[in-house]
This record gives sequence, structure tokens and C-alpha cells, in this order.
Amino acid sequence: MKQRILSGVQSSGVLHLGNYYGAIREFVRLQDEGEALYFIANYHALNTVRDGALARRLTLETAVAYLALGLDPAKATLFRQSDIPEIAELYWILGTVIPVSNLERATSYRDKIEHGQGADFGLFAYPVLMAADILLYDSDVVPVGRDQRQHLEFARDWATKFNVQYVEKYDPQDPTGVKSKRPGVFKLPQAFTRDESAVVPGRDGQKMSKSYGNTIDLFGSDKDVEKQIKSVKTDSTPPEAPKPVENQPLYELLKLVLPPAAFAEVDLAWRTGGEPKTNGYGYFKGVLWEGYRQTFGPARARYQELLAQPDEVEKILQAGAQKARATAAPVIARVRQVVGL
Ligand code: ADP
Ligand code: TRP
Repeated sequence: MKQRILSGVQSSGVLHLGNYYGAIREFVRLQDEGEALYFIANYHALNTVRDGALARRLTLETAVAYLALGLDPAKATLFRQSDIPEIAELYWILGTVIPVSNLERATSYRDKIEHGQGADFGLFAYPVLMAADILLYDSDVVPVGRDQRQHLEFARDWATKFNVQYVEKYDPQDPTGVKSKRPGVFKLPQAFTRDESAVVPGRDGQKMSKSYGNTIDLFGSDKDVEKQIKSVKTDSTPPEAPKPVENQPLYELLKLVLPPAAFAEVDLAWRTGGEPKTNGYGYFKGVLWEGYRQTFGPARARYQELLAQPDEVEKILQAGAQKARATAAPVIARVRQVVGL
């Protein structure tokens, strides 16, 4: 049977290279390999976006970004989280079996609080909503960036906990019930992260993130993106000297963005040094900007075209929601049955 692949991206701001190489590129690759469902996590986004018009705009932009970057609605189901009412229901029901202590040790929660986000209930319960997103569709594989892997572990743990609670003689060693004939209510999902793209560095060398103000955006104006690229942090190695490759965001970004043959050339120049015109950091930033334009030029043009056709995008999202709800229906029916609703 085809594997069911599910993932989502929050519509909480402009998308950047980290989102592409850490998540969206993988989504696009996987749409050919299984039954893929991808959604815009616009409920999750409410934790940070507190302006209705802006939230709506960002939801559209995120949908358009997925499509412009290669998601094909003929292959993958694209939908908005908020079009699936069963999500809120499952979120509540799951919450009834989840220990608060688990949520307290969630690293992304702690991180966000440390970076100044308010400790609201929505942020605290974020992993519960995410588990509902995953479990509602009997997902097999969930492609995510490394920072999201703990959330996947939670989803598996809570699914097991729920299964143990509600399925008599459920055997956690035999989650699909091959031997026991007691399959769980929830299927256990697997996280999937490709090593090469696990963490994309930002301009300052920390993880690229919109909350750290260190992004290179996917759909910003030429002027803004060029400026972002020019501000990638480098050290003081002179142009004629060989340059270090460890902890160098510029080097890592070149590796991600350039086609392999072009990168091989740059790599050689980087490691050997020489002329300022072809071996200094300023030159390499120019190469990154050119590479960026080649790699993302077509998607950037398509993005503008699609933004001008919101009705078309809306149709795709509505059709996607219908399919996603049909996929969710048997799962939520099993849940209601066992809990007694
Ligand atoms: P941000 O950190 O900018 O708020 P999100 O948390 O909304 O980004 O991330 C959306 C998706 O993109 C997630 O799957 C996440 O793992 C991935 N992602 C975000 N930033 C990076 C990065 N720097 N490297 C790898 N993946 C990333
Ligand atoms: N938390 C994810 C992010 O920050 C978005 C997300 C919400 C998600 N629900 C999900 C990802 C379910 C995978 C599966 O981008």
C-alpha cells in the first residue's frame, strides 16, 4: 500500500531558505512517492499573528508559496488546517490523556519563551494540536526539520498512550495488531529528516528563523534579498588566503543553493584563495545572489502570478479540504467510538 505522507508549515510570516531546504523541498520530492497531504497550519499561526487581515493574507501567501515551489495539486492534497473542524475536536480529546510534564519539557516551547514570546496556553499546547494534525489522517511519514522531531516523538508517545488506554489488550510492541488482532485507534507516525538539509544556517550563523531576524527570504523583492545576501556574516580571512569551511554560513548556503557542478568550482576557489575578484567573500556573495536567482527565479515569477489569482488558489484549497476530511472521517469515527461520544 502507498505510504501516507503528511506535513504542514505555519503561515506566520514570510518564508525563507530554511523553510525551503528544511521542509518544502522535501514535500515536493515526496509527492511522487506516496499519498501526500500538506497543509497550511493557520491555527498554529494564531499564536503569533494577531491581526485578522494579516493572518488571512499570510495563509494565502503560504498556499501560493507551496504551489509556486512545485507542489502539484493533482498529486498532493493541499489544504488549510482551519477547514478541518475535526482537528479541534481531536485536539481536545488527545489533551485529556497528555501529561502536562511532557509539554513542560518541549524544547521549542522553552526556546520561544526564552526568545521573548509570551507563555500563552496556545503556545504551551502547540504540540498537542500538532499531534492531532498528524494522527487525524493515519499518517505514516512526516517530513520535518530537525527542530520539529521532538514533536513527532510526542505524537508517537501520545498515540501509544491513547491506544493503551482505549484498546483492550493493545500491545505497544505490535501497534498494528498483526499478532494480537488488536490494532491501535491511532497509527504510529515516523519522522523523516534528510541529513543534508537538517539545519539551514541564517545570515548570522545561528539556525535561520524568522524569529531571529537572520533570514534570506524566498519571495522578497530583488533589492531586499540581495541586501540580505550581502549581509551574511563572514570572518576576516583575506581574499588571497584559503578560507575555512567550518561554521561558515556563506559556504553552507552556497552548497545548498548552487547546482553541484557550480558549487564544485566555488568550493575549489574557496579552499585555495587567490585573486580578490574571484576569491574574496564579496565575490562569493555575488555568486550566491546569482545562484539564488537561477534556482528560485521561476518559482518567484510563478508566485507573483498566483498571488494575482486568489480565486484559483481558493478552489484548490477547498477541494483539498474535502479530500482531507474524507481521509479523516474513519479515524475520527474510531476515536468517537472508543471514548464514548
Ligand atoms: P521559523 O523558525 O522561521 O519560525 P518555522 O518554525 O515556521 O520557521 O518552520 C517551518 C518549517 O521549516 C519546519 O518544518 C522547520 O523544521 C523548517 N525550518 C525552519 N527553519 C529551518 C532551518 N533553519 N533549517 C531547517 N529547517 C528549517
Ligand atoms: N510545527 C510546524 C512548523 O513549525 C508546523 C506543523 C503544524 C506541522 N502541524 C504539523 C508539521 C504537523 C508537521 C506535521 O512548521
